Order: sequence, then structure tokens, then C-alpha cells
Amino acid sequence: MAKVKRATKADLKRVDRIIADYREDRWGQIPLLHEIQGVLGYIPSEAIPRIAKGIGLFPSQAQGVISFYTQFYTTPRGKNIVRVCRGTACHVRGGKTILKLVKQHLDVEEGETTPDFEYTLETVACIGVCALAPNIVVNRDTHGHMNPKKVARLFGRKD
Ligand code: FES
Repeated sequence: MAKVKRATKADLKRVDRIIADYREDRWGQIPLLHEIQGVLGYIPSEAIPRIAKGIGLFPSQAQGVISFYTQFYTTPRGKNIVRVCRGTACHVRGGKTILKLVKQHLDVEEGETTPDFEYTLETVACIGVCALAPNIVVNRDTHGHMNPKKVARLFGRKD
């Protein structure tokens, strides 16, 4: 089960310092959001009213932009992003089982992050290396011909 992480006072101070560079610059919202996400790894919901006020928008307008672009995250993500391919070639070669095993190893569902913020699990459509199906991508590394042993080797955690 994903843990809810709240922004700390220190996080919000960092956000305020970044916002100061974009004061009243409503057209700077996208780079501002990228900068905040680059520093904190996500855009805390507590920061949204501050962002809106800083650049002269209503909070709902700032929230609307964040929701519109899929590259912005309002919950913290893991250090490692695991993407299990759900494309057709991977599916017919056991991708569904691989996904089930990864979920079991990490003890999270799709879209969730492990409580230690080590991993976030996502699924993707074809990643373009169908010949290696079934595939998993961890950060920038593709792991092909996945099987239960390889899943255990990749995610066998020593908790
Ligand atoms: S379907 Fe998985 S890589 Fe193409």
C-alpha cells in the first residue's frame, strides 16, 4: 500500500524560493513546475496554492495545468521507476504473469510506490523491443525475456 507523504516545512521553503524567481509570471508556470518537480521529485499538493499566488493565478487554474500534463506528479515517486510492458507481444509471452510477480515482490499495485520510496510500478504499451518479450524497463534499462527467476533476481528484496 502506498504511503502518503506530506511536504515538509523545508520542502515548502524550497518551493517558495523557486517561486520567487517566477513572481507574477503566469507564463512561467510550466518551467516553474518542472523546477519544483526537479528539486522535490513531485509537486506537493500543499504547494499548489503557493504556486498560484506566486504567479497570479487561482489555485484551480494552477491545479488544472498540473492535471493536464502527465509529466507532472502530485505524489512522490520511487527512486526507481519500474515499467512492465502490457503490449500484445509481451502479453502473449507471459507479460501478465510477470506483472503479477512484480506486484507480489514489490507489494504494490500499478501506479503505486513502495513505502520506502524505492520503487514505483507502472505499466506501458509496447516499448518497441517485442523480440525480447516479455519486457520490463527499470529506469532506463530494458530487461528482456523476463521469467520468474529474473523477476526474483531483479526485485528479490532483503527486507
Ligand atoms: S509488446 Fe512489449 S515490447 Fe512490444
